[in-house]
Amino acid sequence: MSTNKIKHIGVFTSGGDSPGMNAALYAITKFAEVNDIKVSGFRKGYEGLIDGDLVPLKSHELQKITQKGGTILKTARSKRFLELEGRKKALQTLKANNIDALIAIGGDGTFKGLLAFSEICDIPFIGIPGTIDNDISGTDYTLGFDSAVNTAIENIDKIKDTAESHNRVFIVEVMGRDSGYIAIHSGLVVGADAVLIPESGKDFIYLLSKIKDYESEDAFLVVVSEGDEIGAELVASKVKEINPSLDLRITKLGHVQRGGNPSALDRMLGIRLGVAAVKTILQGKKNEMVGILNNQLHLTSFKEVVKQHQVNDELMELLELFGK
Ligand code: F6P
Repeated sequence: MSTNKIKHIGVFTSGGDSPGMNAALYAITKFAEVNDIKVSGFRKGYEGLIDGDLVPLKSHELQKITQKGGTILKTARSKRFLELEGRKKALQTLKANNIDALIAIGGDGTFKGLLAFSEICDIPFIGIPGTIDNDISGTDYTLGFDSAVNTAIENIDKIKDTAESHNRVFIVEVMGRDSGYIAIHSGLVVGADAVLIPESGKDFIYLLSKIKDYESEDAFLVVVSEGDEIGAELVASKVKEINPSLDLRITKLGHVQRGGNPSALDRMLGIRLGVAAVKTILQGKKNEMVGILNNQLHLTSFKEVVKQHQVNDELMELLELFGK
C-alpha cells in the first residue's frame, strides 16, 4: 500500500503494562492527527484484535493522561492469538475496520505475536518496546524500565534503613522474568552487597563465599532477580545453611514495580517512540521495532528483536566489582 493511502492506524498495548505506555499512545495519536490519519485503539492487547474491540483515540483526551501509569487501552497475554485461528480472526477485524497499519506496544511476547501475524497479513506492523524488564534487543531502554527501577530503588532504600538498624541480611527480589536488568540497575545504585541475575553463572558462588564468615556487624543486602534460576527462597536457605547464625529476611517487591506515574525518561521515550512509529509507517517501512540506541532513533527488524538479549560486558564487570 502506498503511504499516502494510510488513513487509519490501529494501536494496542500487550503483555505486562508498563509506565509510559499512555504517553506513547498520546504521541502516536497526536502525530497521526497532524498527518490527517485516524487512530483506533484495540482493547486488551491481541484479545481486542480477535474480538474487534476497538475505540477511537483522540489526542486532546490522551493529553490529559500522559502522566499516568498502566495503559488506558488495558492489556492481556492472549493465549488465543498463539493459535492460527485467533490470528485469522484478528485479520478479519483489521479488514472489517479498514485498518491500514498497526502499532503494537509490548515486550518480547508481543513481538513474537507480530512476527507470526505478519505471515498472514501484509499491512505495515510497527512495534514499540514496552516492558519493565528491558530485555529487548535494538533499544537501550524499553518503556517502563526506568520507572520500575526508580520504584525498586525507593523501596530498597527503605528496606536498607531497617536492615541496618537490626544488622540483618535482606534478600530483596525484584522483577525481571528472564532478565536481570532491574536487579543490576537497582542493586548497583542502592549499594547492594550482592546482585543475582539469570545472565550470570558466577554470582551465587561470590555471594556464598562472601557471606560464609560474615558476622552481622552490619546489614547485608542481596538483590535477586525473580528470573534468577535459584530464586529468593533457595538463596535464603543456602545462605542459612552456610552461615546459620545470620538473621535473615526476604522481601519480594512484586507488582508495585509495574505501577505508578512514569519517570521523565519514560514519558519522553513514549513521546519519541510514538511519533517515530507513525513516521516509520509513513516512510513505507514494515515489521520493524522503533527503539533508541545511543540516543538516536533506531529500527530493528522483528526477527532480530525476538533473538536472545544480552547484558553487555561493561555491566557484567560492574557487577563483579561491586558484588565480590
Ligand atoms: O513482563 C513484565 C513482568 O512484570 C515481569 O517482570 C514479570 O515476570 C511478569 O511481567 C509478571 O507477569 P504477570 O503480571 O502476568 O504475573
